[in-house]
Amino acid sequence: MIGSEPPTPTGKARARLRRSRPSVSIRKRLTSGRAVMRHMGQSLVKAMEMALKAGPPEAAELVACECVVEAETKDHLNWELIELASKALKGDEARALKDAYEQVEEQEDEHLYHTTGWCRELWIASLGLPAVLPPPEEEKEFKTAIGAARAKQARKDML
Ligand SMILES: [Fe+2]
Repeated sequence: MIGSEPPTPTGKARARLRRSRPSVSIRKRLTSGRAVMRHMGQSLVKAMEMALKAGPPEAAELVACECVVEAETKDHLNWELIELASKALKGDEARALKDAYEQVEEQEDEHLYHTTGWCRELWIASLGLPAVLPPPEEEKEFKTAIGAARAKQARKDML
């Protein structure tokens, strides 16, 4: 259903990120915040497994879509924070974060708008109402908030 690959920094941005990475001891430290986020991620997986086991498949698909929208919403926020951090830092760290953000910004916007569009249309279909599948966000390849809003408004013309 939702087939986008997660974005990854490439080339110079990846090299800069590698140079500016915190030490292994910092990276491996399980803070309370990281523990909570890990639990939330595992909970999304558990929710999808429960829905798949309980069925029917259409309900499991809706649960999976909800979980992906949750994850993509957090992903989107994280990249916004990375952009903000890049503006607050200087030197290699700032450049590494800025390069990484610039490489994934458009893809991350697309992930959020497309998954939200899929979720909305699958819910509409589940209510027995005419749905646009694939959603307008996917068909028209909008990659901005304004584009996503236009896609949502254009859905009536696509029914
Ligand atoms: Fe994403």
